[in-house]
Amino acid sequence: MNGSSRTVVVTGGGGGIGAACARAMARQGWRVVVCDIDAARAEQIAREVGGLGRELDIADADAVEEMAASLDGEVGPCSGLIACAAHLENPHRPEDQSLDEWRRIIDVNVSGSFHTCRAFGSRMAGGGAIVTIASITALGSSPLVAYGPSKAAIITMTQNLAVAWGRRQVRVNCVAPGPTLTPAVAASHARGERDPATMIRQTALGRLVQPEEVASAVSFLMSDAASAITGVVLPVDAGVAVTGIWSLYGGVPS
Ligand SMILES: NC(=O)c1ccc[n+]([C@@H]2O[C@H](COP(=O)([O-])OP(=O)(O)OC[C@H]3O[C@@H](n4cnc5c(N)ncnc54)[C@H](O)[C@@H]3O)[C@@H](O)[C@H]2O)c1
Repeated sequence: MNGSSRTVVVTGGGGGIGAACARAMARQGWRVVVCDIDAARAEQIAREVGGLGRELDIADADAVEEMAASLDGEVGPCSGLIACAAHLENPHRPEDQSLDEWRRIIDVNVSGSFHTCRAFGSRMAGGGAIVTIASITALGSSPLVAYGPSKAAIITMTQNLAVAWGRRQVRVNCVAPGPTLTPAVAASHARGERDPATMIRQTALGRLVQPEEVASAVSFLMSDAASAITGVVLPVDAGVAVTGIWSLYGGVPS
């Protein structure tokens, strides 16, 4: 898509997948606003893509609203939003769930994604495109006790907004990444906290997903090539979502 003169906000744009999205959108000619709770990372990625960097905690509804209003004045209405920021979680037993972590995950992932979509989506006067980021943990059972349900809520929210804003020509879609080799995930492999081989065994393609592959799916849904697509959930997971029952029969063939 020729994104010239269009502005897209990428929340969590300082992170692995968010930064890949910011780069992909800039390559397509969009002006990119990188928002992240980590101000230094937001600035760094913004400098790299020739965009604007802003510190933002998406869990703070007032701050999100102020950011949308101030960007409106500064660069004009944003016609794109990639709602990528999230609070991540390590696997654990439900009975070991810390309530503080539960609340933070719901505040950031569910409420924060809603604040962001509402603040920017409601200002998309001439139509627009939004991509939310869920996870394959939203599609079934996992030991991510709070994170999984928070991502499932993002899917329903995406579908609600797609219908609520469809007649305004605001498209709202969701990408559900599988195990993606971001710098943070690579670091956890290096520390021995996660075993990449276990994850790879559960994929159809026999490998992890690269952040740029998630960004490709996001930029497709943001583009005019997806002009009749709204309300969909697109897994980008190297096939993890379809391998489950194969484990009853000895696993994915090598
Ligand atoms: N990496 C994976 O395997 C994977 C799999 C499925 C889904 N996802 C999803 O992809 C998205 C990006 O994840 P990632 O792997 O790049 O993680 P990451 O940790 O590299 O990036 C997340 C970014 O969000 C920012 N952030 C966290 N809380 C915030 C807040 N309250 N306000 C604003 N920014 C905040 C962080 O500072 C960070 O830059 C997330 O929504 C995540 O849930 C990732």
